[in-house]
Amino acid sequence: MSHILVTGGAGFIGANFVLDWLCQDGADAIVNVDKLTYAGNRKSLTAVEGDPRHIFSQTDICDGAEITRLLQSYRPRAVLHFAAESHVDRSIDAPADFVQTNVVGTHTLLEAVLAYWRGLDVPTRAAFRFLHVSTDEVFGSLGPADPPFSETSSYQPNSPYSASKAASDHMVRAYHHSYGLPVLTTHCSNNYGQFQLPEKLIPLMITRALAGKPLPVYGDGLNVRDWLYVGDHCAAIREVLARGRSGQTYNVGGWNEKTNLEVVQTLCDMLDTLKPKASGSYRNQIAFVKDRPGHDRRYAVDASKLARELGWKPAETFDSGLHKTVHWYLRNQDWVQEVLSGEYRHWVAKQYAA
Ligand code: NAD
Ligand code: TYD
Repeated sequence: MSHILVTGGAGFIGANFVLDWLCQDGADAIVNVDKLTYAGNRKSLTAVEGDPRHIFSQTDICDGAEITRLLQSYRPRAVLHFAAESHVDRSIDAPADFVQTNVVGTHTLLEAVLAYWRGLDVPTRAAFRFLHVSTDEVFGSLGPADPPFSETSSYQPNSPYSASKAASDHMVRAYHHSYGLPVLTTHCSNNYGQFQLPEKLIPLMITRALAGKPLPVYGDGLNVRDWLYVGDHCAAIREVLARGRSGQTYNVGGWNEKTNLEVVQTLCDMLDTLKPKASGSYRNQIAFVKDRPGHDRRYAVDASKLARELGWKPAETFDSGLHKTVHWYLRNQDWVQEVLSGEYRHWVAKQYAA
């Protein structure tokens, strides 16, 4: 059986990707390499535990020797790199882990992959791909009338998170140009959907709304993000892996620009319908709080290259994707509560002691 190696496959997008991939006809087996930081959760992978096509390894991407061992053991035809420290607020609070994983870790991974790739036979080497999952945040912040980010927008990262991702993008690019490693890079906008940690905007607001807590909107709430349903991001990555041109970068976006306030109000309205409360609308819980330092004002993504070259476009509208997401969080409160209580860590220790 052929394999792909995925890093960060117990995180939000990585876990969605693993689950989605293994549902596809003729899917390769997955070697899932994840350090299981606070953001990694094996419980998100319950549906594929015991599936022989899913091999999980709790490994740090900074551990080059172990990555090399995994590459040599499973001989993957592609490496998909999702692993990262990914939360902007945490990066402002403590940037060092972001440099370590996103910069040093990506470099360590590239070194191991390059050595492995050089040892492949010619046709296998030609077909191999290293797909780097990056973000629109590397391009910085847009003014209200600016056109959306394109693949040729200049890099202007503003947070330690986006700066560390930008550094990793440059390293990936350099391994293509200097050594010929066949790489692909994607720049995606804000994702939302099942299995996202409730410290990110959408699951945070759903969780706090249901708990009757204030809904903390930073600043004036008019910062704009482009939102993409995570399943659409997974489909885009599959397309780029299958047919993307080596050395190219592809923007992935939902064509869904929304202010944070609009997002929170829409969520409140959905909850008012799906889980009404006696004391009035969830909108009454909205509270404006101190702004994030250096808060990027607007992100918007021009994903027309992906549509033109590979025929990808999102299947979900913001409304349909958000409905699915709210339903999932309402049905999966046990997953949320375990994350919040740290219970899932005990569960992992018990479940995987062997
Ligand atoms: P996440 O924080 O939910 O998950 C990251 C995963 O990486 C976790 O499972 C964690 O345990 C693992 N990890 C962290 N450090 C590691 C290390 N040193 N070695 C091995 N594993 C490690 O992140 P996410 O939201 O799923 O994002 C995945 C990727 O997509 C990231 O590269 C991120 O920059 C990018 N991205 C995210 C978004 C978004 O909206 N979430 C948008 C665009 C791009
Ligand atoms: P977030 O989900 O942290 O993603 P990112 O910073 O990568 O875009 O935040 C999305 C937007 O929501 C961002 O503009 C910050 C804002 N936000 C709030 O207003 N309140 C919150 O409690 C959080 C977590 C985010």
